Amino acid sequence: PKCIWLSRHGESIYNLEQKIGGDSDLSERGFQYAKKLKGIVKENAGNVELSVWTSTLKRTRQTAQHLPYKKKLQWKALDELDAGVCDGMTYEEIEEIYPDDFKARDDDKYEYRYRGGESYRDVVIRLEPVIMELEGQENVLIITHQAVLRCIYAYFMNVPQEESPWMSIPLHTLIKLEPRAYGTKVTRIKANI
Ligand code: G3H
Repeated sequence: PKCIWLSRHGESIYNLEQKIGGDSDLSERGFQYAKKLKGIVKENAGNVELSVWTSTLKRTRQTAQHLPYKKKLQWKALDELDAGVCDGMTYEEIEEIYPDDFKARDDDKYEYRYRGGESYRDVVIRLEPVIMELEGQENVLIITHQAVLRCIYAYFMNVPQEESPWMSIPLHTLIKLEPRAYGTKVTRIKANI
């Protein structure tokens, strides 16, 4: 592909409450990012027609809502890492209610699988069809979630997948990836909101 554009969804209500998972709406700031994203993409991608891929969750679809492109696709495979029984909890609550799990995750964040949920390794595996499809595309903008973006980012940056849980993917930042023969060029464009 020529160019891959990546963004997390805008700040969500759950982000504000420091809860993981769920399917909450964007916060006020998150909606501001969604509004601003249109201009930021235009400014940096010019007039190329992008395909916009989101997850099936509200916060990514709301982030994409003002983008003026016809090709929009929702992928279940782009949904956030499933935290199973911990879905909707804060990290503090997880540490209190499932202390052994909290420690196990800290010890091996890549392999740790939430009870009734997923590990980073699981996410990497379910992303395979997305990556395959991406390889054959020209210009795609992917709006998804932190854990999922870490795995996609590690793939294109040629970083071992075991390191994906530690990749930094800040909110309200558009990432431009240009895969080249010798490696992928990265540009990070921060939205000021
Ligand atoms: O809920 C999922 C978060 O986006 C991933 O954060 O893997 O650092 O806990 P974490």
